[in-house]
Amino acid sequence: MILWLAGEPMIDLHTHLLPGLDDGSHSLSESMETLKMHHSQGCKTVVCTPHISHAYPNSESAIKKKYDELKEAMAASSVDVTLRYGAEYHLETLCEKILNDEPVVFLNNPDEEHRYLLVEFPFAVRPLWLEKLIDRLKRNNISIVVAHPERYGTSDNFVDIVDQGECLFALNVSSILGEEGTRVKQNAFSFVSRYTSRIVWSSDTHPALNRYPQFDRVIQYLQKKFSRVITDYWFDTLPQKIIQGKKISESDNAIINLYVDNFISCHKDRKE
Ligand SMILES: [Fe+2]
Repeated sequence: MILWLAGEPMIDLHTHLLPGLDDGSHSLSESMETLKMHHSQGCKTVVCTPHISHAYPNSESAIKKKYDELKEAMAASSVDVTLRYGAEYHLETLCEKILNDEPVVFLNNPDEEHRYLLVEFPFAVRPLWLEKLIDRLKRNNISIVVAHPERYGTSDNFVDIVDQGECLFALNVSSILGEEGTRVKQNAFSFVSRYTSRIVWSSDTHPALNRYPQFDRVIQYLQKKFSRVITDYWFDTLPQKIIQGKKISESDNAIINLYVDNFISCHKDRKE
């Protein structure tokens, strides 16, 4: 039986909290109110990931400026959350940047062994060049973290690239709680059972859209269904690896998959 439990607090890898950069937060005070929620729910590291897309052509310097302002506001408050920044790329924008050899904003420090990009896919179409892009990123030690794959109508069309490209999936907490509808909730469960060792959960917080962190609620819900070992892996172990730039190893996959198989078969036995 596997007994390892992660000791570090939770990490939210996907939030829209830098005011004025996208459809996330309107103001510093709104961002601070949201970060208080993170803090009270036990989430100790929050990555600000503004959109980078045709609609929101944010540069790294613009992101860094807003990030510094929010960090300064945090330092003057009692909210004890470690803040980082990354970005959420639209796939097409990312492809243009990569083809033009432009610098990109990673979820982790670009000097680290492995690098991770948070990427939003088109909602209805699978681009023909997707495999080539994933392959090129892989050759450069870059993995894609697919933002909210459970929300796309195209999910079945792109999951086959996952095994080739070693992608990870950042599912939205609100999806598994049923707030995005039944189809999205079902999709979230099917990603979880198919790619258990490649799942992280994040809030995709958008105060302007009334989407806020709900880590306390979701962890309770998921622990009942999947056990503490699995939720520690999803909310802590795997996100830590991402922000520390460590590659997800075959043994990580094997351990967690073995645990899930055991957990599911134990529960089956109890029911029978
Ligand atoms: Fe997002």
